Amino acid sequence: MAAISVRAVSHSFGLPGKQNRIAALKNVSFDVAPGEFVTILGPSGCGKSTLLNMVGGLLSPSEGAVQVDGTPVLQPLPERIAYVFQESTLFPWYTVEENFAILLRCRDVPRSEWRTRTLAALTSVGMQDFAGHYPKQLSVGMRQRINLARGIASDTDILLMDEPFAALDEQSRMVLGEDLSALLGRTGKTILFVTHSLAEAVFLSDRILVLSARPGRVKATVAVNEPHPRPPDFMLTSDFSELRNQCYALLRDEIRLAMAEAVA
Ligand SMILES: Nc1ncnc2c1ncn2[C@@H]1O[C@H](COP(=O)(O)OP(=O)(O)OP(=O)(O)O)[C@@H](O)[C@H]1O
Ligand SMILES: [Mg+2]
Repeated sequence: MAAISVRAVSHSFGLPGKQNRIAALKNVSFDVAPGEFVTILGPSGCGKSTLLNMVGGLLSPSEGAVQVDGTPVLQPLPERIAYVFQESTLFPWYTVEENFAILLRCRDVPRSEWRTRTLAALTSVGMQDFAGHYPKQLSVGMRQRINLARGIASDTDILLMDEPFAALDEQSRMVLGEDLSALLGRTGKTILFVTHSLAEAVFLSDRILVLSARPGRVKATVAVNEPHPRPPDFMLTSDFSELRNQCYALLRDEIRLAMAEAVA
């Protein structure tokens, strides 16, 4: 059974018949197998976050259906799905460790395990020395790494990640990408990931869905047949370059279309 199943999903924002109604997604269907890493690539505004919000149960599609492990998604399912958002979502008045405590309490993790779980997750992103800091004492990139660690600490089978590395410098992105590939090799989590980086998509994914300009449709699917964990040398191979070029060729026209519409 698919871990995530998206069937004929279309979504529009705004009221039917109103001028400002926006068609964000059109007839999108795909499955994600248990343990698979699938990335959604597409021009800005093509509905990637909208799609993730539907899988995460934060939004109901105008048409079509989303299922997780065969069950329709009608609300957030925190015990099965963790969500790493595009923006950092830490409470500013709590320390990093207190932010983790809130999450772990909500998940009924025994208090005796909070510290170990928190430090293990922080260590996985190189932030173990900042447990006592407040979010405002951290850089944007550090806050984003903590966000990522919170997703890992949730210990769910499914992780939804919406541009989790967007605020990071290129080198940190690459290192965290390697760590994520290792995590996948170790835990077999199912990950649905959104990025604008072609290299990140190819390095991390088992499959890449390329969406068209808005309303987003699945334009093509690109498979990356390389087991996890992937060594950094994978980026130096001709297979890697070919896949990256293939994704760019598929995206280029869609990005131009999206830009032309934004200017119009
Ligand atoms: N709550 C909302 N109300 C009205 N329109 C919305 C809402 N959320 C998104 N949209 C519109 O739906 C379209 C898709 O938005 P979405 O955020 O899913 O795009 P995206 O692919 O994630 O873009 P980006 O790459 O810039 O993050 C956009 O045109 C956006 O303006
Ligand atoms: Mg988005």
